[in-house]
Amino acid sequence: MGIIKPLPDLLISQIAAGEVVERPASVLKELLENSLDAGATKIDVQLEEGGVRLIRIADDGAGIGPEDLPLALARHATSKIASLDDLERVASYGFRGEALASIASVARVTLTSKHASQAHAWRLRSDGTTVEPAALAAGTVIEVADLYFNTPARRKFLKTEATEFAHCDEVLRRMALARPDVTFTLSHNGSAKRRLASADFARRAREIIGEEFFPHARPLDAGAGPLRLSGLAALPAYSRAGRDEQYFFVNGRFVRDKLLTHAARQAWADILHGARHPAYVLFLELDPAGVDVNVHPAKTEVRFRDARGIHQFVFHALQRTLATPLSSAASAVEETPAAAPAYPPSAFSYARQSGLGVEEPAARAYLEFARAAFADAADSADAVSPAPSAGDTAPGFARGITSGATNDGGAPLLGYAVAQLHGVYILAQNAGGLVLVDMHAAHERILYEKLKTSLDAGPPATQALLVPLLLAASEAEMATASEQAEALAQLGFAIAAAGPRELAVRGLPALLAGGNAVELVRSLLRDLAEHPASRVVETRRNELLATMACHGAVRAHRQLALPEMNALLRQMEETERADQCNHGRPTWVQLSMTELDRLFMRGR
Ligand SMILES: Nc1ncnc2c1ncn2[C@@H]1O[C@H](COP(=O)(O)OP(=O)(O)O)[C@@H](O)[C@H]1O
Ligand SMILES: [Mg+2]
Repeated sequence: MGIIKPLPDLLISQIAAGEVVERPASVLKELLENSLDAGATKIDVQLEEGGVRLIRIADDGAGIGPEDLPLALARHATSKIASLDDLERVASYGFRGEALASIASVARVTLTSKHASQAHAWRLRSDGTTVEPAALAAGTVIEVADLYFNTPARRKFLKTEATEFAHCDEVLRRMALARPDVTFTLSHNGSAKRRLASADFARRAREIIGEEFFPHARPLDAGAGPLRLSGLAALPAYSRAGRDEQYFFVNGRFVRDKLLTHAARQAWADILHGARHPAYVLFLELDPAGVDVNVHPAKTEVRFRDARGIHQFVFHALQRTLATPLSSAASAVEETPAAAPAYPPSAFSYARQSGLGVEEPAARAYLEFARAAFADAADSADAVSPAPSAGDTAPGFARGITSGATNDGGAPLLGYAVAQLHGVYILAQNAGGLVLVDMHAAHERILYEKLKTSLDAGPPATQALLVPLLLAASEAEMATASEQAEALAQLGFAIAAAGPRELAVRGLPALLAGGNAVELVRSLLRDLAEHPASRVVETRRNELLATMACHGAVRAHRQLALPEMNALLRQMEETERADQCNHGRPTWVQLSMTELDRLFMRGR
């Protein structure tokens, strides 16, 4: 007698529901995707008790005809694909034809829909069999009530109402970011929680992610062959304790993908403190045939055909964006055309750029973006008065201001130095108002980037010291100096033993000649001693360079002359990633005339 029996249909769906219907938020995700697949432009979501008691979604999409209503609830029935070929290039959110069937197996579902071909709407309940006439002007209303009423074991896994609601809200936020063109509303237990009118991407992103993100967000739009990456990436001055502001979409689908997360992580690695997480909203677009979305029923995992290529592309595009020198971000101020981005799919397009270069177009894109994202702030920014001429300024401050500092279009972004404050900050005047620069942090960043560039081209130039610098060394330091002689040479140092407990520094990297050489050599030896690997210069290159830059940079309390300060400002403008130091802190801040006026209540 056989012991293997086919499972009943309902049980099959309930098993499938285990994967697709993890909690109310997963139901909501499937329903939202169905509405978007049906071409909805307006979607209203009502939740009760965190979605457990009720999820009701109303859309203005194409609707479902009465003959299709029973099929919509049937397992493996879909209007979206018909062949393997379709599957391989699927562009809709759904295609498995199992979501509604799974949901209907663990909840009470009611479908009400008005298809254009029908004079009125029709309704079908999951516990009924007949399709009956109903009242609905257009679109589809789906009600999912009493989730897990028949599978109490699963119900036990649900968290508090507030937690389940929060998950639902997060699902809606993701969808809303991917589709700024669609209007969404969300209510919970009868009170309105979100109202998102159809908008461009910048505005939608601002509503979803919040105001703090924006001053630090850089837009990007990079293309390479069939690949495109666009969206917003926050400079390290804005980072998070968790991954909660990391939104990655592949062909409009929110995904959690190890490969993409890793590529992003790497792009920030160099400029973000290890314990912090970057914030971004990124859209990767590629030929649907190049990505398999049918990896998991919930479709938040994907598999790329060319995983390596995608990783490289994403990493480089982000790295370039984060590294765009300030000077190129400023150069396009005058000629920015105000463009109105529109969905789809180039909604996230601010300005097209060729290849991965993000030189001028990115600058223009940044400004376009800034205009859209700071719509309110922009009015006042345009009204900023031109920098006062030298005659208006206190005599002592006038020296640093040349004619270039006025609004003649050629003014440097960071302006001209006017003073040094307590040996720590440089004060500069630019077209916008006052610029404050953390002298040490800025110089450190410049040196770091220069060291990296020069090391890429071989060992950095060594400046021989006329009189060798002698330093007393511990036994450990003596040992490190001889064991790591090769690494030290690669970094541009010439160091040799001068006695049993004495080292002679005969040469330093030319870039660092101005710094405190003794401290520099000691720190470097300490760094090298911690990691006595043979390929230390390759594997820990950036950490070593950071140590070198830190000790090579001007120390606080060193008096700088105005020309020195101005030289530093000019170098900052030319340096990649100059606006944050190696520890992810900002190196400069701008205080606009408006902000200054506010301090003095001027113009009120
Ligand atoms: N809101 C909706 N508007 C129009 N048609 C819908 C809607 N929701 C579901 N459908 C129809 O029901 C079918 C089954 O939905 P579903 O079970 O989610 O499977 P899938 O989305 O994978 O096709 C869809 O293929 C679609 O034809
Ligand atoms: Mg679906």
